[in-house]
Amino acid sequence: MAETIPDLRGVDKTVAYAELHAHATAIMDGLVDQIAVMATLASLVHHAFGHLWTGFYRVAEPGALLRVGPYQGSLGCLEIAFGRGVCGVAAAEVRTIIVPDVNKFSGHITCDARSRSEIVVPVLGPRGDLIAVFDVDSEQLNAFDDRDRIGLEHLLSWFATATR
Ligand code: SME
Repeated sequence: MAETIPDLRGVDKTVAYAELHAHATAIMDGLVDQIAVMATLASLVHHAFGHLWTGFYRVAEPGALLRVGPYQGSLGCLEIAFGRGVCGVAAAEVRTIIVPDVNKFSGHITCDARSRSEIVVPVLGPRGDLIAVFDVDSEQLNAFDDRDRIGLEHLLSWFATATR
């Protein structure tokens, strides 16, 4: 398989996510393994938009601890406690968090000093339980909005509907 990743930088976000979703569906047809889906989605989203860091923190201890999973970018922190940083709060509250300016988010965990804004989306598995969070970091201030939330939540619904 020689798949390419579309370059969606500068494309209207609603159009971009629709294209990315179609692309992901074609690539991942029949793929049920969660780690394989995480690795594929991290690569697709990272390179399509040119983000700084894109990847997963998996639930290692339910309600207590996240551990880094497949990602693209510079080194990520290895473990994050529930309730700590943007990822830990998104996991504890099972809700998407958009941070327009990381310097204004109390408790933000800095893994790469170039990160200026961030979105973290909870990932639910086939049994409806939290299996991970998806974290995207940008070098641009205010890089994420509701269109990213909707696009990413839709993309990540693959885990609930198509993985084991
Ligand atoms: N900024 C995140 C930590 C993860 S890294 O940025 C890859 C947070 O505050 O949870």
